[in-house]
Amino acid sequence: MFCLAMKLLPHTTVPTYLVDSQHEANEALALEISSLLSARDGRATLGLATGSSPIGLYTELVRRHRAGEISLKEVQTFNLDEYMGLTHDHPASYRAFMSEHLFRGTDLDLEKTHFPPSDEVELEASCANWESSIQAAGGIDWQLLGVGRNGHIGFNEPDSPFDSRTRRIELAESTREANARFFESIDEVPRFAVTMGVGTILEARRLRVLAFGDTKAHILERVLHGEDDESIPLNALREHPDAALYIDAAAAARIA
Ligand code: GLP
Repeated sequence: MFCLAMKLLPHTTVPTYLVDSQHEANEALALEISSLLSARDGRATLGLATGSSPIGLYTELVRRHRAGEISLKEVQTFNLDEYMGLTHDHPASYRAFMSEHLFRGTDLDLEKTHFPPSDEVELEASCANWESSIQAAGGIDWQLLGVGRNGHIGFNEPDSPFDSRTRRIELAESTREANARFFESIDEVPRFAVTMGVGTILEARRLRVLAFGDTKAHILERVLHGEDDESIPLNALREHPDAALYIDAAAAARIA
């Protein structure tokens, strides 16, 4: 049996576990999701994230499903964000990403998977509907987050108000550069996206953040050991009663 050896770091502004490997973080979070599913008879509402960090967790959930350990049939999912201007089947769209890394490998009902609206037409009304659909699902039980190099959560770039709601946002150049690896060239990376707001995210009952690699070390130092700087969206987690970060040694290089 896999033994979790992760260490809770002392004196951080948000509870933070230093993991021996990404695998350890993925195991810990997969275990939380499995327990939530058992407690809820399979009917949980999960908030999902994209980027490189969650891929291993999704692989582990697919493995657990194939081994007959979990079923996601009754689960509702809400993704944090989506690019504007990409077709649903564009390989770099977040819907395509989720299909490839999680949906296809499990028994998730696609009717129960939700993405923020990404069409310019009547966007404000669609964003309000999206927020209502989260409420109608009973709110998000368990929200996964990655973190941008500039401290963004979802696509809430620096200076996003902590009470912001789902809306259109202009992507920071550093975000477009970081995400260019998923596209043929940086010119193809959309300039706009729709993201759940910071306030929307804070309403989830549990928040779990994965941050791996040395590109996250600088922002984690500022958030976990720094002043409460409201321009950094990740700092909003200081206000949440059940938030935790799972970081590897490279991401922890400036604090551990
Ligand atoms: C994108 C997503 C974010 C994610 C970030 C981090 O910008 N919109 O939600 O947190 O990528 O990605 P990675 O895990 O690849 O570092």
